Amino acid sequence: MSKILAINGSPHKNGNTAHMLRAVLEVTADAGHETEFYQAGGRPVRGCTSCWGCEDRPGRCTQDDWINELYPKMRDADVILMGSPTYFADLTPELKAVIDRCGFIALFDGRSFTRKIGASVAAVRRAGSVHVLDSINHFFFISGMVQPGSTYWHMSLARDPGDFARDEEGVETMVHLGENIVWLLEKLGAQHDA
Ligand SMILES: Cc1cc2nc3c(=O)[nH]c(=O)nc-3n(C[C@H](O)[C@H](O)[C@H](O)COP(=O)(O)O)c2cc1C
Repeated sequence: MSKILAINGSPHKNGNTAHMLRAVLEVTADAGHETEFYQAGGRPVRGCTSCWGCEDRPGRCTQDDWINELYPKMRDADVILMGSPTYFADLTPELKAVIDRCGFIALFDGRSFTRKIGASVAAVRRAGSVHVLDSINHFFFISGMVQPGSTYWHMSLARDPGDFARDEEGVETMVHLGENIVWLLEKLGAQHDA
């Protein structure tokens, strides 16, 4: 059994991004994996201050806020799912803070994200979601993580909370992403159980 952690970058706890993440989690939970949903969007947070304090105190950020609660969950997960709504063709500032701060903490904590599975999803009213996915995927790549695909870009055309459920292809894309995560976990099983 592997651990799948989903991080919601939207301030809407039950918005489109949240439902997209939950759709992926449902597939992995049905396959017997442990899942956790973490609400990051809408919480007060500052970006990385570039103090390099995480180099001296591995595993922690000098700004003692919820990032220090989230980082160990990311370190202990086998799969990190990240979701964001599209804001001016980019991710939300809360999720960017998670990437910059947890990414740096992990770097000085023995590059702890190496070879985890990473997957991104983005909700979008009309345009810009591929750039959101790129932003998150760059973080996965530089962290040495492995990325599964789906049958389309990992996005849903949705504006108001609840629209995702009406986007048939978006729902299918999340289900297929979940299936590919389960498949990849099986292939990597020995290593992730170790
Ligand atoms: C500040 C802001 C900027 C947005 N920028 C875009 C955009 O660039 N392109 C777009 O298609 N939708 C944009 N949207 C719409 C959201 O991406 C869309 O409503 C999404 O489904 C919200 O997801 P959520 O329910 O998870 O919060 C923007 C919304 C907000 C509040």
